[in-house]
Amino acid sequence: MLTARLTIDPHFAVGTVQRRLFGGFVEHLGRHVYDGIYEPGHPTADTDGFRADVIELVRELGVSTIRYPGGNFVSGFRWEDSVGPRKQRPRRLDLAWHSTETNEVGLHEFDSWLQKVGSDLMLAVNLGTRGTSEALDLLEYANIADGTSRAEERKRNGRTEPFAVEMWCLGNEMDGPWQLGHRSADDYGKLASRTAKAMRMLDPRVKLIVCGSSSAHMPTFGEWERTVLTHTYDDVDYISCHAYYEERDGDLGSFLASAVDMDHFIESVIAAADHVGAVRGSSKKIDISFDEWNIWYASRFENEEKIESIDQWPVAPRLLEDVYTVADAVVFGNLMISLLKHSDRVRSASLAQLVNVIAPIMTEPGGPAWRQTTFFPFAITSRLACGSALDLKLDAPLYDSRRYGTVPLIDAVATHDASTATAAVFLVNRSTDEPITVTIDLTSLGTVTLRESHTLADTDVYAKNTLGDPERVSPRPNDSVRIAPGELTVTVPPVSWTALGLDLG
Ligand code: AHR
Repeated sequence: MLTARLTIDPHFAVGTVQRRLFGGFVEHLGRHVYDGIYEPGHPTADTDGFRADVIELVRELGVSTIRYPGGNFVSGFRWEDSVGPRKQRPRRLDLAWHSTETNEVGLHEFDSWLQKVGSDLMLAVNLGTRGTSEALDLLEYANIADGTSRAEERKRNGRTEPFAVEMWCLGNEMDGPWQLGHRSADDYGKLASRTAKAMRMLDPRVKLIVCGSSSAHMPTFGEWERTVLTHTYDDVDYISCHAYYEERDGDLGSFLASAVDMDHFIESVIAAADHVGAVRGSSKKIDISFDEWNIWYASRFENEEKIESIDQWPVAPRLLEDVYTVADAVVFGNLMISLLKHSDRVRSASLAQLVNVIAPIMTEPGGPAWRQTTFFPFAITSRLACGSALDLKLDAPLYDSRRYGTVPLIDAVATHDASTATAAVFLVNRSTDEPITVTIDLTSLGTVTLRESHTLADTDVYAKNTLGDPERVSPRPNDSVRIAPGELTVTVPPVSWTALGLDLG
């Protein structure tokens, strides 16, 4: 039997776990909004046309802030189309996803859905086909109480109180050649700086996120961050990171080590940001908003035949409807471990996305809604992780991965909350064939009792939840947990994700 050892000590806090780390992302894309969260004809639809079964699942998922309305979509979006009397809203071509946007759901409707699911709004402005002036109009509409043209327009449209949006993304993936209005780092940096300065003049309370690279593997990665932050360092609070992972060429070993890449990505962006700060002699730190992360079989999507006809612009087509496996959920849980491990600088994150589109929740029109495998690590981590994230001492066996070199078979993080006298441990076993017994040294935590344990694993690592078999995969209590004074042992099966909830004192 392979063994590993972890030491947890609350003195080694990395940073406070921000609730915003458990954010989501809703883009007008495919069946996310229409036929996903909004389906007026559905048997569970409420009076606003939102599916109550989906609302319940989003609440269970425990999502804090939700980024909206894109994504690539936002770079061609005119926000004015999405407010005002519904019958008068224009239908528009969505160039990013070759679809028709009906604008039936817009800012007001989405905000009312957010109130039902208990999440906050994070807005992205269009810096692709639009600029500073339109961003200011939207900010005025959303955040100014009354007495101005845009504020009064909002009130006429039925919303007396401002939306009071705090988090604002300055465009989306502006480094990507696929992006409408794609720019060089220099051009984007200047535009983002001008826009940020103007937005702060209008509302100094806003928190601003400038676009970092759309992946750590973009040819401009690093230099993009340096140039963009050189223009915007004093104007913004966060720089974004985006990362998607998938199993490629049947190389499960490398796929299971994806979080190693995420760790490296985060640390590289911190290094780039701190370099700009050092050159400027600034004591300010720029944090990371990891506002798109997930498992996405993007290579399958790229190889699919696309509708390109000028006569066909479907409404809510089935796009990016990945079906996730147990292995996907284990990597997903490990990505959450990576985010938590960097709680000192990753202070906001958005799972991309929420419903139907690379999502933890799936729906059928007129039919059920169900949890994908990835639902479980998100819901459990969001519920259990609080207080401070701790730097663990980890001794684990190693393995050779083709893509990321020699990496540990176990990855883990713990959180500790003195105010509720609780702690939580999250760990993955990346071995494809061996269980591992992990001994956790808890001496510094005092008296510990196990409140709950959850392990996600399966003899078939490619098992999935589907419309026909929606409950095939779910986590189970881990019966191997033993607690002795100062020590806990747990055996974790191959390709597994585990969470332990502990009570202290
Ligand atoms: O999440 C899907 C897409 O991935 C988003 O629209 C875009 O920002 C990213 O490339």
